[in-house]
Amino acid sequence: MSQQEDRPQDGPPTARRAETLEWSDAMLLGHAPIDAAHEEFVEVVTALADCTQHTALGCLQAVDAHLLSHFAIEQAWMEKSGFPAADCHLDEHQRVLDAVQKVNALAAVGEVGLHDVKRLAQALADWFPGHADYMDSALSAWINKKMHGGAPVVLRRDLQVAVAA
Ligand SMILES: [Fe+2]
Ligand SMILES: [Fe+2]
Repeated sequence: MSQQEDRPQDGPPTARRAETLEWSDAMLLGHAPIDAAHEEFVEVVTALADCTQHTALGCLQAVDAHLLSHFAIEQAWMEKSGFPAADCHLDEHQRVLDAVQKVNALAAVGEVGLHDVKRLAQALADWFPGHADYMDSALSAWINKKMHGGAPVVLRRDLQVAVAA
């Protein structure tokens, strides 16, 4: 989706409210440790998006700690399974971690406002679906193929199914 689609016709760009992530079975990739990390990602980023001046620092620290764990889990599975496309995946993790840790460090010395924290939450919410759909789903499929000899069977609850009238 382009930025253009979010703007009213013939008008200036508008600040859109953070589109919050919401966990659903549609986000399951079929590898339990990665899926658990992703569910936690949604939780900590949602908490960051909803934080106040008083809770911002704690929420930032929770995101930082989560990303360290989340990315370590994926890296360990890449190594364990001999994942061939690890470098660019790990580079992307590092860029995200660097951005979060930079804001965290500035927030710790009072040099980041709540607006910047919310922008970070939005950037993480914008980044995650594409990364999960493209890089993490490839990793999950690779692990399942290597470990179990096939593609994962993912059971998703309560998904809306469009039925032609
Ligand atoms: Fe992930
Ligand atoms: Fe990843």
